[in-house]
Amino acid sequence: MSKFNLESEAARLIILQRIELATPFLKKIRKLFGRYIFSNYISKFFLDIKSIEKKYYSLMNSECELLENHITFKNKKILSIGGGLGGLELLINRKFNCPLSFIEKNYISKKVKYGWDNDNSEAYNDLKILKNFLLNNHLNEEKFKIYDCDKDNLPEEKFDIIVSLYSLDYHYDFNIYSEYLKKVCHKETILVFDTIKADLYKKVFNKVQIIKKDEQTVHKSKRIMCSNFI
Ligand SMILES: C[S@@+](CC[C@H](N)C(=O)[O-])C[C@H]1O[C@@H](n2cnc3c(N)ncnc32)[C@H](O)[C@@H]1O
Repeated sequence: MSKFNLESEAARLIILQRIELATPFLKKIRKLFGRYIFSNYISKFFLDIKSIEKKYYSLMNSECELLENHITFKNKKILSIGGGLGGLELLINRKFNCPLSFIEKNYISKKVKYGWDNDNSEAYNDLKILKNFLLNNHLNEEKFKIYDCDKDNLPEEKFDIIVSLYSLDYHYDFNIYSEYLKKVCHKETILVFDTIKADLYKKVFNKVQIIKKDEQTVHKSKRIMCSNFI
């Protein structure tokens, strides 16, 4: 099985989560009309879904390959925090059959603002679309669970790998989840996330390794792989 099946509503969502998937033309009209009108009206008519589907697959495939170079996934239990549409996690499951848990927000902010969000009030996900995307791509319903971080009790079991690309500590404070993470990590649990404060995490974890540097972007973030809370 290869590639993704992307429905129109999922395509409209993914260009909010991964702006690099929008064409320069889409970015231009987003600037012109503002994000609210863009997300709710304009993007319905101007999306080339097949092209977004292809680009999303290729982007998630390269994210997956990067992680595979550093992490052994076989038989590991995965927690995704802010996984968006879940393409990366879906690929990890396809390759290694790992069970997946998602913690996400279930709303799209009226005015999606990118960047740091002190109150963590910004979100761009819809848990029904996430679930449909996973099911439409043949992920067995028994293989994943989705938790709304604002409403549900979060899972309390131990996870082996926790992935949070461009979410935890990129858009909102790591401390929102730090106590929770201590509960669900064992000594070998690996946490992967993007941050502009990589050095700070040497005081939080015994092991910290930088696995990617985004030097061309405004944020200039680093992707770090951490384990063993101090
Ligand atoms: C920039 S997107 C990244 C999505 C995905 N990780 C990717 O790399 O394509 C950030 C995601 O974090 C989610 N988010 C925001 N606050 C959150 C929170 N407190 N807990 C979990 N997810 C959150 C947003 O809804 C959004 O889906």
